[in-house]
Amino acid sequence: MNHFGYRDGEQHCEEVSLREIAREYGTPTYVYSEATLRRHFEVFDKALAAVDHLICFSVKANSNIAILRLLASMGAGADIVSGGELERATRAGIEPSKIVFSGVGKTAQEMRMALDAGILVFNVESRAELELLNAVAGDLGLKAPVSLRINPNVDAKTHPYISTGLQKNKFGIPWDAAKETYRRAAELSHIEVHGMDCHIGSQLTETEPFVDAANKLTELIEELLGEGIEIKAVDIGGGLGIPYQEPGEDQPPSPAIYGEAVVDALGVLLKHNLQLICEPGRVIAGNAGVLLTEVLYCKESEVKKFVITDAAFNDLMRPALYGAYHPIRPVLKTDRDSQVVDVVGPICETGDFFARDRELPEVRSGELLVIGAAGAYGFSMASNYNSRLRACEVLVKGAEHAAIRQRETIEQLLQNELIPAFLDP
Ligand code: LLP
Repeated sequence: MNHFGYRDGEQHCEEVSLREIAREYGTPTYVYSEATLRRHFEVFDKALAAVDHLICFSVKANSNIAILRLLASMGAGADIVSGGELERATRAGIEPSKIVFSGVGKTAQEMRMALDAGILVFNVESRAELELLNAVAGDLGLKAPVSLRINPNVDAKTHPYISTGLQKNKFGIPWDAAKETYRRAAELSHIEVHGMDCHIGSQLTETEPFVDAANKLTELIEELLGEGIEIKAVDIGGGLGIPYQEPGEDQPPSPAIYGEAVVDALGVLLKHNLQLICEPGRVIAGNAGVLLTEVLYCKESEVKKFVITDAAFNDLMRPALYGAYHPIRPVLKTDRDSQVVDVVGPICETGDFFARDRELPEVRSGELLVIGAAGAYGFSMASNYNSRLRACEVLVKGAEHAAIRQRETIEQLLQNELIPAFLDP
């Protein structure tokens, strides 16, 4: 459920008309709903109520510090993958003791930053990373809390680019090496074993792969506890999908069903009094944001009709990168006939599209469109390709709204570029 929809024939975010947002902030603009973010967090939290749990919002899904602040105020922690995300999370007010650090390529400098900050746990993905973390923590005279990210070799049945739990994926410690890596972690003097982690992929639309992964983790946890290696937490990662198509062909389970399945499969949590950690991103933010864009031109070739918008794939790259479907609607409801169009951006590549062969009511230049389900992996994946300025982001709460990121300027676009003296002798 989200707080976007038509009211009096006009698309609104909560009580604010998207036409008003476009007038005030221009386009393209990302618009987020505070009530939707709040609701999604609360529903997810409730779904895990049966066990001691910590929800670490996956910052990569939406890293705006205002969004992080809102989630922090509801008790969220953060799942981070870089020093930049660490800084964002802590500046937004997320307590370091609720931050987990994931990722296959942490640098020594990032490890130092996170140790200094006092994060909850490092999700370590290789033996080499474990050894480096031990050395870095040793230099600082500290012990690094560690969960090993285990690759359970489970098929998440999602897009291959965002499937992460198979043997052929770069992620995690191979199942067969897990026990010996735990034994090594337990003997390193600057490592403290905290728990076990896995993340099998993103946009999962079934519970079964989560359950399969949980079962494998359980087996390993029991063996390690038997060996006297202390496991205090189980991190099941993120990955719960959202409906992009409506009415959906890709309807994922609700957070309640997901929560029940995961908690059931992880009986080990209650049995041994362990904490459950989750790293949801998309399910919290995805349907809490849209991309608002203006139609620049409409044109026709012999075989196609094109709607050219002022947003492009540098603003939202999911359709280009994954062939992802995002709903698109006119901001003003119309009774014009519908037609089949490609909705495309101004970038000089054929891959720059938001929809292909989509049935939409006829739209005209100057009119506004809303691209839905863009709150996760939308702005956070934006780039400056074609030297386009990155969009503005606006947060709506009831009848209030505010920019939470200003539109980029030409000065900012060029600020780090230099012309060396040898080019102008
Ligand atoms: N934890 C880890 C270790 C992750 O790698 C990810 C996502 C998450 C949690 C959050 O997953 P979520 O709950 O959002 O599914 N750009 C792609 C998605 C990439 C996901 C990368 N990892 C997209 O737009 O679909």
